[in-house]
Amino acid sequence: MPPPTIRRRVVGPLAAVLLCAAGPTAPAAARDAGERPAPGRSAAGPAVRLPDGLALTPPMGFNNWNATHCRADFNEAMVKGIADIFVEKGLKEAGYQYVNLDDCWALPRRDAKGKLVPDPKRFPHGIKAVADYVHAKGLKFGIYTSAGTKTCNVAGFPGALGHERSDARQFAQWGVDYLKYDNCNNQGVDAKKRYTAMRDALQAASRTTGRPIVHSICEWGENKPWKWAADVGHLWRTTGDISDNWSSMLSIMKRNLPLHAYAGPGHWNDPDMLEVGNGGMTDTEYRTHFSMWSIMAAPLLIGSDLRKATPETFEILGNKEVIAVDQDPLGRQGKVLSSENGRWVVAKEMKDGSRAIALFNETGSARTISTTAKAVGLSGATGYTLRDLWRHKSRPSAGRIAATVPAHGTVLLRVSADGKRAGHPPAVRNSA
Ligand code: GLA
Repeated sequence: MPPPTIRRRVVGPLAAVLLCAAGPTAPAAARDAGERPAPGRSAAGPAVRLPDGLALTPPMGFNNWNATHCRADFNEAMVKGIADIFVEKGLKEAGYQYVNLDDCWALPRRDAKGKLVPDPKRFPHGIKAVADYVHAKGLKFGIYTSAGTKTCNVAGFPGALGHERSDARQFAQWGVDYLKYDNCNNQGVDAKKRYTAMRDALQAASRTTGRPIVHSICEWGENKPWKWAADVGHLWRTTGDISDNWSSMLSIMKRNLPLHAYAGPGHWNDPDMLEVGNGGMTDTEYRTHFSMWSIMAAPLLIGSDLRKATPETFEILGNKEVIAVDQDPLGRQGKVLSSENGRWVVAKEMKDGSRAIALFNETGSARTISTTAKAVGLSGATGYTLRDLWRHKSRPSAGRIAATVPAHGTVLLRVSADGKRAGHPPAVRNSA
């Protein structure tokens, strides 16, 4: 069942076709996915990435949508509160940077000059004041609109189709650093055309302010943006909307995993924003969600109201060893090595030559999941160090990588070849 936001806007047989476009079974991308494009080339062809140097690692930050949808508690106080918490609770220091508004920030009508008007109830001091507040904290600010005549909410807020230049200019003048550009009410205009028009408008607008703007393409994977958007946006949604439950998170994860060959610095697959902390999953499941998003080099956009978050939520979102997997500068998305009977092994090559390994248990009871250093691409050493990124403990291994993983849980490891041991075998072995 597609999430309600999808159901609202695509109806009947068209919906079935559209929703299958990024379907649960291996799409075309999966077939191509075994082949990693040469550095500087995308799997789709020669297009590389935008030349602005933005999003060289997956964007990290906050977006209100999963927490509030269009409710009245999406307002200036919330956004400022999140920026405060980013600083106070060490999330800024952990890498979270963007504080982003989603749908419903505007009034349904443009003004007489065609300008967008912030909703005065939610944002009584306007958008620039909020952006200034966020910037004063050393953070960045993002906003939302749709590549259509109206945004996705039934209230019908104005979209940017046909207004790209003037809306992009308005965003740039407000100090926007990040635009999430949705797909509702697109009038059937070709997606590549619509998103390229906004890319060009953002580039032109940011030339006047000197503030480059991340372009987050949100067309739900309908037109396989991984094949054409590497130089159109910095990230693209690969699926429909996530909801705060296990099956939604899992199905999105399964659709996003096969697309690994298309991700890289400046151009990321986006399996949607985090639900961690919203209450619909257990903390074990949220650790899986966060582990898998990190090993997939997904954008990490917190989607819960941090003003009400539990210590466990902060512990998950603030785990720097897990974040380092997501933010690794090599920019690889992890690949599935095996997934038999719900026992998943996913491996991500890291810049320092180590591998991040997720041992993920999809089943409803504890399972032993195992692989080897050789299978994850490490060999030749006499010993390896397995670092458990949730327990923050290291242990040695001769090459076996295994753990008992609770139901719906993930053991996330970083495995390094032990150079010293390779070069200097332990004394005990010499004397044996
Ligand atoms: C779409 C997007 C969501 C959210 C809503 C807002 O459904 O995919 O992420 O932005 O619109 O209406």
